[in-house]
Amino acid sequence: MADATELLDSGELLDPEALRVLQLERLRKSLRHAYDNVPFYRESFDKAGLRPEDCHSLADLARFPFTTKADLRENYPYGMFAVPQDRIRRIHASSGTTGRPTVVGYTEADLSLWSDMVARSIRAAGGRPGDKVHVAYGYGLFTGGLGAHYGAERMGCTVIPASGGMTARQVQLIQDLKPEIIMVTPSYMLTILDEFERQGVDPRGTSLRVGVFGAEPWTEQMRQEIEERFAIDAVDIYGLSEVIGPGVAQECVETKDGLHVWEDHFYPEIVDPISGEVLPDGEEGELVFTSLTKEAMPIVRYRTRDLTRLLPGTARVFRRMEKVTGRSDDMVILRGVNLFPTQVEEIVLRTPGVAPHFQLRLTREGRLDALTVRAEARPDASPETREEAARAIAAAVKDGIGVSVAVEIVEPESLERSVGKIRRIQDLRPR
Ligand code: DLL
Repeated sequence: MADATELLDSGELLDPEALRVLQLERLRKSLRHAYDNVPFYRESFDKAGLRPEDCHSLADLARFPFTTKADLRENYPYGMFAVPQDRIRRIHASSGTTGRPTVVGYTEADLSLWSDMVARSIRAAGGRPGDKVHVAYGYGLFTGGLGAHYGAERMGCTVIPASGGMTARQVQLIQDLKPEIIMVTPSYMLTILDEFERQGVDPRGTSLRVGVFGAEPWTEQMRQEIEERFAIDAVDIYGLSEVIGPGVAQECVETKDGLHVWEDHFYPEIVDPISGEVLPDGEEGELVFTSLTKEAMPIVRYRTRDLTRLLPGTARVFRRMEKVTGRSDDMVILRGVNLFPTQVEEIVLRTPGVAPHFQLRLTREGRLDALTVRAEARPDASPETREEAARAIAAAVKDGIGVSVAVEIVEPESLERSVGKIRRIQDLRPR
């Protein structure tokens, strides 16, 4: 295997000072590009009394207005594009749970940048030219499949474009084609794990060496579970369509200490989710991104709704973002207490007798919201173990999160399995 440092690209080799200089230069250009070519930005900057050239330092970016998902929806489908249609080579869309999807576009240069960033991510994950990469993110309008695909090709890997679904076939492909790397959502990796077991095949005996998991929040407990059950390294990849897709930030396999943000192209800020004020590195808040080099759809201060904090670089010069705790919009507020599915995931995964599958069911009892954690028993769990697990989960939620919940231990294989991004919350409250 080649030494990782020999393979780093020129962006990864910048020193911190050169990085800041490059970021500012690119930021000023990108603000100008957005202002000149997208009526939405022209209006929003004008309203704030700002011109692109008012950005004299990276800190000045904080003076510029935010962009939200609602802004993208209002400009559906093509209103945020900054280049003529004949320069757009590809469209993707993010489904979103309600209303119109958001549509994003890429020029040839954007697609090339995206491939570079995913290649960089795969390399940081421990991938090397010549590795075979099994891509089980969905192909289509979702950015996961095609994003991973072209990045792996750019890296010099052999791509197996499995896409999501047909789980029995995933197992067969992994056994027969012998990929070293798999790229898939962590929840679908668990579905694949079930299928290995159903077929009586040892998941620790595959050719897989590394899993590159993202598109949804997952915890350290989930990392441990996957690493042990498959005997692989499991690392985190982050991204969102509005910024480019997967490959905005990536965890390095040698440190597994959060995700390095590829901030020579995507500039991160953390803001207070309520006041919008920029918070210093180290404090938790909402992640906001500004693209520095995108052509088709430059994005300025996009509110991701993802909660995390920024930390200094370790394995790379770029700052890290901590594993995403959750999205502000899938936070459950139960009798005044904030609860994220990831907090429950940590608890469920360390409880003996239950499988790593759970769901949060919200109901209303009288005027109060109630939450039931529905966790699946392991096939070998006795009735006593199940009862003990229910008690342990309820107690851990009460002690750790501070709210009383009901716990139901359901039969093995009874909860719906993920084939892509999992939905943890089932909201049965009357509207
Ligand atoms: O999920 C892009 C992607 C594909 C990332 C494959 C990684 C791997 P969207 O469908 O636009 O794009 O959804 C973006 O997914 O704002 C987060 O809430 C969530 N998300 C993505 N990666 C992670 C991650 C893709 N590693 C939204 N950890 C984001 C936690 C993640 N949440």
